[in-house]
Amino acid sequence: MSILALSGVPQSLIESLQRTCAATPIEVQYKRFPDGEQYLRILAKPVPPVTVVQSIYPDQDRKLVELYLALEALNGLDVHEVNLVITYMAYARQDKRFLEGEPISVKALYMPLKLYKIKKILTLDIHSIKIPEILGLNIRNVLPHAYLVEKAEINIDFVLSPDKGAIHRAQVLAEKKKVAFDYLEKYRDRTTGEITVTPRELNVKGMNVAIVDDIISTGGTIAKATQILRKLEANKVYAIVTHALISEKTIETLSNVGLDMLITSNSIRHPEKLPPWIRVIDVGELLCKELNEMI
Ligand code: R5P
Repeated sequence: MSILALSGVPQSLIESLQRTCAATPIEVQYKRFPDGEQYLRILAKPVPPVTVVQSIYPDQDRKLVELYLALEALNGLDVHEVNLVITYMAYARQDKRFLEGEPISVKALYMPLKLYKIKKILTLDIHSIKIPEILGLNIRNVLPHAYLVEKAEINIDFVLSPDKGAIHRAQVLAEKKKVAFDYLEKYRDRTTGEITVTPRELNVKGMNVAIVDDIISTGGTIAKATQILRKLEANKVYAIVTHALISEKTIETLSNVGLDMLITSNSIRHPEKLPPWIRVIDVGELLCKELNEMI
């Protein structure tokens, strides 16, 4: 197998994918034209199958264009056995028209994948499980929360979804760990972006609770859930979140509410210096195993 790891993929993930998939790296030349347009060239015809890996973050728009340029370049080289791993799928949160006049962004941006007859498509914790159906594509979606918990070597007694709509993530982890799970009711004002998370009676006193989610953006969702768990006298509060889009502000928000640990994956590039309570776990081995299991 050859791996074409594009420029959005963190170096740690490129290395672990190459190692665990025993794959040969494909060399790519990148250039930018004076007007800002992107150029890439695959320097030698790769040995199939070729697995293209991209993380669409940040600059999301450029990383997406880069992905399509790479797929077209492989097509031009007559490489027809192509797999795709998207470690972070930007624009996936706009998977419906929340307000009249909005686009379904995930449709607008990923429908062109259909032009390339890609053999296997693997995503890491895609925002909504409805997306494969929306796109009409056969996608294997990997939920990494149990893997992250295992690698971080933490003990959990209870799993909490901060949002009823995302309860499947909590359920999968809870079943693997043989613990109970529940959810909170979250409401986001689509115009102001403000989040309200409704407290509920949960029997978590003295327990180590894992809040699971796909994305941290402002940190508001995890912060509100942490505050509720603190009031309910949980012991340790962990956030197990696949994609942590970390900024200084997010770090401040989460440390102010006393989150014990944030465990996330290397699906995207992170700042070099992170506080000790944020742990980034490499998911190369997990992705490689899941890719190999796909028929
Ligand atoms: C929303 O539906 C997602 O699953 C996340 O809960 C959300 O993106 C988190 O955003 P924030 O960190 O800004 O609350």
